[in-house]
Amino acid sequence: MPAAAPIEVETVPVNAQSYTPTAKLLHWLMAAIWIAAWVLGAAAVYMREAWNPHHGLTITHKALASTLLFLIVVRVAWRLTHPAPALPAQMSAPMRRAAALGHLALYAAALLALPLSGWLWSSVAGKPILVLGLVQLPPLTAPAKDWYDLAKLAHVTLAWGTGALVLGHVLVALKHHVVDGDGVLRGMLPEARARLRSQPRPASADGAPHG
Ligand code: HEM
Repeated sequence: MPAAAPIEVETVPVNAQSYTPTAKLLHWLMAAIWIAAWVLGAAAVYMREAWNPHHGLTITHKALASTLLFLIVVRVAWRLTHPAPALPAQMSAPMRRAAALGHLALYAAALLALPLSGWLWSSVAGKPILVLGLVQLPPLTAPAKDWYDLAKLAHVTLAWGTGALVLGHVLVALKHHVVDGDGVLRGMLPEARARLRSQPRPASADGAPHG
């Protein structure tokens, strides 16, 4: 009986339009922290008497939100060294520019300026920030009563402005998925990781599986 031919296995990336697993992890981790921080911050202010009589929500808000100051450094470093997948070919030039601007605004305003403004507000108020309840952030300035209102206005304005920006980002991602039916949202979903993983394929000429 002739010896069985060795099975050759070729690997083929199925979805080349996907972000790297690390980029996805950073995206969803920071999204979860950001949304939780937003809800906690708003609850701390607007439900003060019922839910926040001893500043527990405020302290938790700061403990969680301040982690973004560290994660953003890792995220930007990763993004600069690992380019995003190409946008769908059918997207017009103005839409591509809008997408680039929107992403830049999310990084600069939602992930950087907003936590920085919170840090500034706590600093001028002379209040501590314990990152994850463990490590205290050094104040950005000495306590400064005169700057309190301005720092507060900056944080509150950025919180609501970036809230609208993030909502817009979610709606555009859903439009890509539901209306355009392109792979933009799928490229950021954990599920796409499995598809990206190379799949074994028989290397025969007709593509039929070897017996
Ligand atoms: C170092 C990071 C941050 C610090 C130190 C900080 C600090 C604060 C403080 C002291 C308050 C007032 C809470 C109170 O009066 O009891 C507040 C409110 C708030 N924060 Fe932050 N924050 C930070 C980051 C963030 C981030 C990343 C977000 C959004 C995801 C956010 C969203 C909000 C919102 C929505 C409010 C309520 C604003 C309003 O009055 O309408 N904060 N923050």
